[in-house]
Amino acid sequence: MTVVALASVKASPGVTTSLLALAATWPGQRPVLLVDADPDGGSLAARTGLLTEPGLTSLAAAARRTLRAGELERHTQPLPGGGVPALVGPADPEHASRALQLLGGPLATALRSDPDRDGLVDCGRLRAGSPAAPLAAAADVLVVVARPRLDELQHLRPALPRLLAVGARPALLLVGEGPYPPGEVAAALDVTVLTTLPHDPAGADQLSGQRRRAGRLERTTLLRAARAVAEQLRAADETTGGGAHESSVSDEPAPPASTTAVRERSVSGNGHRDRTGWVAALTRGSPTAREPD
Ligand SMILES: Nc1ncnc2c1ncn2[C@@H]1O[C@H](COP(=O)(O)OP(=O)(O)O)[C@@H](O)[C@H]1O
Ligand SMILES: [Mg+2]
Repeated sequence: MTVVALASVKASPGVTTSLLALAATWPGQRPVLLVDADPDGGSLAARTGLLTEPGLTSLAAAARRTLRAGELERHTQPLPGGGVPALVGPADPEHASRALQLLGGPLATALRSDPDRDGLVDCGRLRAGSPAAPLAAAADVLVVVARPRLDELQHLRPALPRLLAVGARPALLLVGEGPYPPGEVAAALDVTVLTTLPHDPAGADQLSGQRRRAGRLERTTLLRAARAVAEQLRAADETTGGGAHESSVSDEPAPPASTTAVRERSVSGNGHRDRTGWVAALTRGSPTAREPD
């Protein structure tokens, strides 16, 4: 299973919207599971019209630190329309954080060891000590979402080394346009930049359930770009063999904090499979993706 986590480090740049856009465009050969693991409280249920239970809270109550095979399945609900299964989070931040403190590690292991499904995980805003950190660290790639503006980008410079230090493999997803083009951002932050998602209020509103117009969603510029990002992520995984991992992220030694790019971590070895293919494929897969020289 390929696990892709999405998170921000500051503000509200569109993590949940981007996650829903990726879910709607995830390449069809493999089923995907959405996990609403935002410690500030889940918003997936409200946006999609689902109840907040079953979901993360009921799973935490049932599993209590260990997750038996098949347990996860009983706590998911199908999203309206496509039927993509989702593990929704509670709206209350205290409940969400508590559930993630209990379940973050076991859930990460369960997602990674599922041979049949990919996982898309909303980790919300990743602060130091976030209970969603085990999920971010366990993901094959941590997609950090930001708008290309100084007031958001400046927070990435100190955050990226911290994410590397806890074992995450970050790539940057820019939303909308700004004074800093993707190539400049990639060079300045020394990180892989995925295809940019457009600022598309109509597409975002449709994904948020604010405006439903049958048949229109897939024609929005947001979904078209999301499809390219989803393909980059899946193609990159196929390049490196894909599927579940044998080692648990909690077993691996934390690498030293640095601004080293995903590519360099991949060749230095981190206890996982080689990451070089990831970066090469991500970069090849997108006309707008940039990798620093
Ligand atoms: N690509 C986009 N284009 C236009 N508006 C967007 C886009 N992504 C998100 N938004 C809007 O920005 C706001 C925050 O989005 P959300 O996905 O909830 O962010 P986060 O999960 O980071 O808090 C919402 O009003 C949403 O509709
Ligand atoms: Mg969100």
